[in-house]
Amino acid sequence: MSGEKKEGAPSSYFIGKKEDLIQAKRITTTIDGRDILVVFHQGIFYAMDQYCYHAGGPLVNGDIEEFNNKLCIVCPKHKYKISIAEGEGIYKATNPREKVPTARWYSKGIKQRVHKVSEVNGDIFVTLSEVPGWIESDYYQTEKGKEEMKKN
Ligand code: FES
Repeated sequence: MSGEKKEGAPSSYFIGKKEDLIQAKRITTTIDGRDILVVFHQGIFYAMDQYCYHAGGPLVNGDIEEFNNKLCIVCPKHKYKISIAEGEGIYKATNPREKVPTARWYSKGIKQRVHKVSEVNGDIFVTLSEVPGWIESDYYQTEKGKEEMKKN
């Protein structure tokens, strides 16, 4: 059963069997009131908040591509790129003050909360991030943020 707490590990939740999740490639689930996305990509599991930090876009439908040597999920709504391992927002831009303006990758910092995925004997668990402070994707986990998403 999804979202079940693991015995003895207060913040780890069973989300499914490894083979099932590999086959599904992506699932969305709610653990401890938080809506998350779990992705299996190139042999690795990743977990992050389900709604894009920018305006709550459905990351479950985002393509995964590499930009600037980082594997990113591209939000289907406005194409923001978010590194799937760290939750970093990255973008490409040119600085018009440069003699020869050249497009470069820049970081916006960590914008999407990512969670830890672990495996125990073929069972997959997610441990919610305990990074303190506000990360922008937190907003779309609140009632207010969810209301706003419905309007858009
Ligand atoms: Fe994701 Fe705008 S909502 S890029």
